[in-house]
Amino acid sequence: METKLLAPEQVEAGADIIRSGGLLAIPTETVYGLGANGLDPEAVRRIFAAKGRPQDNPLILHIPDSSWLERYCAEIPPEAYALAERFWPGPLTMILKRKPLVPDVTTGGLDTVGMRCPSHPVTLAILRSAGVPVAAPSANISGRPSCTTAAHVREDLWGNIDGIMDGGPCAVGVESTIVDLTVTPPRLLRPGGLPLEELEDVLGPVAVDKAVTGLLSEGEQPRAPGMKYRHYAPRAPVTVVTGPPEASAAYIEAHMGKGSGIVCFREYLGRFSGHVACELGPAEDRAEQARRVFDALRRFDGTDVTEIWAQCPDRRGLGLAVENRLKKAAGFHVVEAE
Ligand code: TXA
Ligand code: MG
Repeated sequence: METKLLAPEQVEAGADIIRSGGLLAIPTETVYGLGANGLDPEAVRRIFAAKGRPQDNPLILHIPDSSWLERYCAEIPPEAYALAERFWPGPLTMILKRKPLVPDVTTGGLDTVGMRCPSHPVTLAILRSAGVPVAAPSANISGRPSCTTAAHVREDLWGNIDGIMDGGPCAVGVESTIVDLTVTPPRLLRPGGLPLEELEDVLGPVAVDKAVTGLLSEGEQPRAPGMKYRHYAPRAPVTVVTGPPEASAAYIEAHMGKGSGIVCFREYLGRFSGHVACELGPAEDRAEQARRVFDALRRFDGTDVTEIWAQCPDRRGLGLAVENRLKKAAGFHVVEAE
């Protein structure tokens, strides 16, 4: 299949691909999405095929503003509008009861649907012009790190989709925060670009799904089906080292070997000369770490490193999302440095 590379002024060409049942990679503030008409079961099936995504892993619907919620969702609680008012367009996905017109393939057969209004101006224009909700998972091959540039999307999907809209590098760098509003108290299913502290500012206490910070035991099901898969994984195995930055750097120095690749905070890059090392940004700059984490994980795949050690931020602000992405890349293989 020929893949067209579209420039931001080609909104109409992008909207045409969506309207005609095709697959278009779209830029968002979080990560690139692989979009198709979310009401068209055939188009949605193509998303699963192009990514190699398990059928039971539901997609979220992207809409241009909160007035579209009632087209696709039932029993919408007032909290949904309060959140939309404060955080949309932006990196927040809400799980709500779905209406029957949302196809089963889109929701993986669930009676709920994830709704998100992304803030990238080009994608908002495409959504308005296409006039349909766009189902879009992250635009990576299933299991690989998410794509934060159009070049990442090319690596994964060139030749298998109709187009890539190049909207530049993603400003946030980790996927949206997912909150389930169909349960009381509301539950965080995936930490992401909107910090938990800001959600709680509007909602009060939010429960945190166990899959966010740890490995589920056998038989346990996460509420976001996607959280059960090994994910974001570079080809070499990853070990995450938690603890204060100085301690985790020292731990890695003491345990690394000849083929070790390192993900570290900027301040510690000098300690790892002679190794393939990718910096996450300064130890206290969690927003920069979010922007860099997927690119750092992808960079090892072109090298001959045999294992990867990663420093990990604490949970404040975007740290919770960065920690989750690193630990998932590691299959929750974690050591604690004192
Ligand atoms: O930032 C984002 O959210 C990006 C951009 C493209 O918008 N999209 C994204 O989609 O990350 P995806 O499919 O890679 O991740 C969506 C996650 C999956 O873990 C999926 O299982 C979960 O959301 N999910 C979707 N619908 C759900 C539902 N109705 N109930 C529970 N979890 C749901
Ligand atoms: Mg994904």
